[in-house]
Amino acid sequence: MDVFEIMKQRKSVRKYLDKPVPRADIEDLIRCAGSAASAINLQPWEYVVTYGEEKDRLIRRLKKVHAMKNVSCGPGTSTPLPKNIADRSRRALKVMKPQIAKLDVPFNQFIEEGSCSFYGAPVVIIVLMDKVFPKLRYLDVGLSVSYLLLAAEAKGLSTCPIGLITEYGDDIKDVLSIPEEKEVLLAISLGYEDETAPENDFKTDREPLNEILTWYE
Ligand SMILES: Cc1cc2nc3c(=O)[nH]c(=O)nc-3n(C[C@H](O)[C@H](O)[C@H](O)COP(=O)(O)O)c2cc1C
Repeated sequence: MDVFEIMKQRKSVRKYLDKPVPRADIEDLIRCAGSAASAINLQPWEYVVTYGEEKDRLIRRLKKVHAMKNVSCGPGTSTPLPKNIADRSRRALKVMKPQIAKLDVPFNQFIEEGSCSFYGAPVVIIVLMDKVFPKLRYLDVGLSVSYLLLAAEAKGLSTCPIGLITEYGDDIKDVLSIPEEKEVLLAISLGYEDETAPENDFKTDREPLNEILTWYE
């Protein structure tokens, strides 16, 4: 499959098969992530992989801290979003909600508890950046994460980026003994898609080209 097909096919997956991911495949993905471009080749990204008992220990902690703090998924903005942008998210919810309704779990609970348990994925990747870097370097890490998501897709694996858990970055660092000077930017759940699951049975749309592209000639 060529890269265009892989980009078209990739989607976030929120239920996984109980099937282990070979360690060599995970290493391939991280190698691909590490091959992304970065400003003056600084390669500011770092990855921590957890699975099995350690992952379960992390989930127990996240569920506990989430029950106390109850952070919800949101755009992270302090002012309301312009309508045309808010509509993008509304359209995503419109295709997601009917599928999640089939599970008999309130939607927010599904997203919040699902995010804190990485949607049952066998492998969890934590994305870090050293605090020595300025925030502009988030861009480089984002490029690297994109490579990782696409490489996973090319291998027949599925992913879901999970930002909600960054609210609990200190807990993640504590459980996984990650040094204080690192910042937790994202988690990525990784595994094989359960293709029979309603929560995977939708695809979000994207803006047409004229909404995101301006030509000057
Ligand atoms: C930085 C980032 C953070 C995200 N955080 C979450 C999250 O906490 N929980 C979740 O279920 N999905 C999360 N997602 C997945 C988005 O909801 C998803 O990418 C978006 O709806 C587009 O759908 P698609 O990935 O299937 O194309 C996140 C995605 C990104 C890129």
